[in-house]
Amino acid sequence: MKKIKAGIIGGTHGMGKWFARLLKKQDCTVYVSGRKTKLQANDLARLCDVVVVAVPISATADIIRQVGPRLTKDQLFMDLTSLKKEPVKLMLQNSPADVIGCHPLFGPQLKDVSGQNVIVCPGRGKKWLAWLNGVFKKNKMAVWKATPEKHDKMMAVVQALNHLNTITLGMAISQMKITPAEINKFSTPIFRAKMDIIRKVFVESPALYVDIITGNPQIGKILGHYETVLKDIGAKIKSGNRIEPKETLEKAAGKLYGRKN
Ligand SMILES: NC(=O)c1ccc[n+]([C@@H]2O[C@H](COP(=O)([O-])OP(=O)(O)OC[C@H]3O[C@@H](n4cnc5c(N)ncnc54)[C@H](OP(=O)(O)O)[C@@H]3O)[C@@H](O)[C@H]2O)c1
Repeated sequence: MKKIKAGIIGGTHGMGKWFARLLKKQDCTVYVSGRKTKLQANDLARLCDVVVVAVPISATADIIRQVGPRLTKDQLFMDLTSLKKEPVKLMLQNSPADVIGCHPLFGPQLKDVSGQNVIVCPGRGKKWLAWLNGVFKKNKMAVWKATPEKHDKMMAVVQALNHLNTITLGMAISQMKITPAEINKFSTPIFRAKMDIIRKVFVESPALYVDIITGNPQIGKILGHYETVLKDIGAKIKSGNRIEPKETLEKAAGKLYGRKN
């Protein structure tokens, strides 16, 4: 079989760079582009069999609209975006190529990806789907097929609600005028791990986390649940009565784990 040429738009850093390494290991010829590289997104569209969009969420739609019409039906157009409904819809609308939405559920710093989840949203065509599944399976990753809608619904919990919770915790601590160094001396292992996550969200990639939360189609619903729960449990705690909050937790445990109260 002829050597596959893959072009990663946004392959100079982060997830794109991670994917470039993975494809090189599979014996693909890999080209990458960033904002300042000699080869640009349109060059990759012309040169490559597989074109991957791995730019920040805020730049994804424009890149898809720019590159999509330059592809032919023999090529694969895919992305690594943390949200799937909008990018998959745009790839299908703007290109005749085969289309796959993909979301690896880990960050680029992870050394060993074996056993890690990756979501694949088939958009158009079968040939490239088998190839991509093969690439992930060879690296012992757990590949799950989902519609873009199902993916975004689950990410509303795994990412939007989860990161919203981290942001709320970080913001509350920041209002209390206690430094992380001071907190560290009093921290349990679990709290130290939480402080590490707060640092990652607030310092390393605030734009990525804000995009993941604000871009999720389910965010209104998630915020509604979050506000209702906080208001309800807050009122019960403030009342000074310890039975009611305990019963609330037990009732939720029943819903989560099917435990009888
Ligand atoms: N980071 C994660 O944990 C993670 C996990 C799963 C999925 N994702 C998804 O992966 C995608 C990239 O995120 P990331 O965290 O890897 O971002 P990143 O580290 O900031 O890397 C973004 C890449 O895109 C390039 N880029 C930025 N703006 C561009 C533009 N306007 N046009 C063309 N290229 C541009 C950058 O190149 P230059 O800086 O060289 O210009 C860089 O190579 C996002 O869709 C994100 O949702 C991220």
